Amino acid sequence: MQGLFITLEGGEGAGKSTQIPVMRGFYEKRGRQVLTLREPGGTPCAEEMRRILKTRRTDDELCDRAELLLMYAARAQLTHTVILPALEAGKVVICDRYDLSTVAYQGGGRGISAEIIDACRKAAIGSFRPDLTLLLDLEVEQGMQRARARGAADRFEASETAFFERVRRAYLESARRDPEHIRIIDASKNVGEVTAQILNVLEGLNA
Ligand SMILES: Nc1ncnc2c1ncn2[C@@H]1O[C@H](COP(=O)(O)OP(=O)(O)O)[C@@H](O)[C@H]1O
Ligand SMILES: [Mg+2]
Repeated sequence: MQGLFITLEGGEGAGKSTQIPVMRGFYEKRGRQVLTLREPGGTPCAEEMRRILKTRRTDDELCDRAELLLMYAARAQLTHTVILPALEAGKVVICDRYDLSTVAYQGGGRGISAEIIDACRKAAIGSFRPDLTLLLDLEVEQGMQRARARGAADRFEASETAFFERVRRAYLESARRDPEHIRIIDASKNVGEVTAQILNVLEGLNA
């Protein structure tokens, strides 16, 4: 069995957490061992980094560069200690957010240049990339409504609408540039219809 690395991307409330169990079921039914993860986090050290990244505080606001580097520190830890060994063991690894989130949030959202992000990516994960990224796309306001219904906002969720519009634009621009690896899913539809679109893509992978 060859390992397979699939990542889910999209704004808050797009439905990533909702769809991951369905994807797990799809592969388990085919006899695959599946590992589901989330970013930032997924190892004890990376979860500590996640807490720093997610916590709103006024005494020492995380600056954009520290945010970027901490994201990549967490990604390096998860990739080298968990994802790569699982793929070598032939597992299907499904990750809720991964590198495209940095392009969208720290790049599009915060305005950090592609050159700087590329350099950090190279340091953290070299040339490693997901086999497939599913981009759950929907209008910012619709996603915010769904996320609001879920509870209190973390450091990212507390951002302004304009920030999320830039995030969405960066996501869509990446998908336009690399349609082979990044598939856009219309996440504005109901849960069942979103699932159907995702399974349709997975069936087409033949893995
Ligand atoms: N397609 C959908 N239509 C309507 N509500 C949805 C849909 N997908 C998820 N939800 C709901 O919206 C909220 C956010 O979904 P979630 O899966 O947690 O999003 P994410 O993990 O992308 O932030 C949850 O309350 C979830 O039940
Ligand atoms: Mg989620």
